[in-house]
Amino acid sequence: MIVTTAQLFKQAYGKYAIGAYNINNLEQTVGLFQGNIRSKAPFIIQISRGARKYSDKRFLEGIIRAADEVFPDAIFAVHLDHGDEETCYDCIKSGFYSSVMIDASHHEFAENIAITKRVVDAAHAKGLSVEAELGQLGGVEEDIVGSVKLTDPDQAVEFVQKSGCDSLAVAIGTSHGAFKFKAEPGKKLGLHFEVVTAIKAKLPGFPMVLHGSSSVPKDEVDRINAAGGKIKDSSGVPEEDLAKAGKMGVCKVNIDTDGRLVWTRVHREFFRDKPEKFDLRDVGVPFMEAYAQMIAGKNEMLGSAGHIDEVRAALAKK
Ligand code: G3H
Ligand code: 13P
Ligand code: ZN
Repeated sequence: MIVTTAQLFKQAYGKYAIGAYNINNLEQTVGLFQGNIRSKAPFIIQISRGARKYSDKRFLEGIIRAADEVFPDAIFAVHLDHGDEETCYDCIKSGFYSSVMIDASHHEFAENIAITKRVVDAAHAKGLSVEAELGQLGGVEEDIVGSVKLTDPDQAVEFVQKSGCDSLAVAIGTSHGAFKFKAEPGKKLGLHFEVVTAIKAKLPGFPMVLHGSSSVPKDEVDRINAAGGKIKDSSGVPEEDLAKAGKMGVCKVNIDTDGRLVWTRVHREFFRDKPEKFDLRDVGVPFMEAYAQMIAGKNEMLGSAGHIDEVRAALAKK
């Protein structure tokens, strides 16, 4: 059942975070639904602009509609990840999405507000909610301390009031990809939870979102490298930090890279161990299972596991 992102946030706020998982193809979608059903978790499917272009946006929409039928117990929202203005309007018009993210955080403050407000007006007119971003996440290959621009809590209040956005992606030290933190002697790594605490105090009840939340497990990367991969100096967000964020008003935690690592590990190991194989379904089956396991594990960690019946009951009351 496709629900609104706002409905999920209302149930989760302050208790747990909803996993927001990027998808690009059929196998990922099947694994995603299996993992969420298995862990009884509500979830968010994210579609990036890259995913919409990878083949054709209509394929993803079709796969999700089919998954909704195949897994009738699933409760999920469909969200545009890192939209520009044009893509947001396209998704709002489509009638398929629950929410959109307008990512105008690279613009200066006033311009970010103006762009976000235009998208909010269009989205609210059609019943969709809008995630916006304030501050800047670290670049994939840059030193996190140098490149990150932490969200300013006072600016966050002004931004939310003036833009009318429904949730805010905050920069607290995470970054996208598999290389999030560069260890340097004497430098303390970690997330800036004081920013989350300050925003929660100034905007009580307002949902925050955490991008760049993959944990980049060492075991996964070691297995990829042992099977021929060359991923060096990777690092991610400790899982306990994400569990903590979920209790502090972070309602949505974005995970993409960890899913890509599962795909890479399964395929590299499969073809290393079975070089005579060439049927794509032979590797697709273990991939879907490994992906489902990863998703179920994430939901346990985020605290969303086991909440599906409670969310269903709350939605039925309306
Ligand atoms: O934050 C970005 C997501 O990981 C999506 O990545 O734009 O390569 O699909 P993508
Ligand atoms: P990761 O690269 O850490 O998985 O972050 C994904 C993300 O933020 C998608 O918007
Ligand atoms: Zn992101």
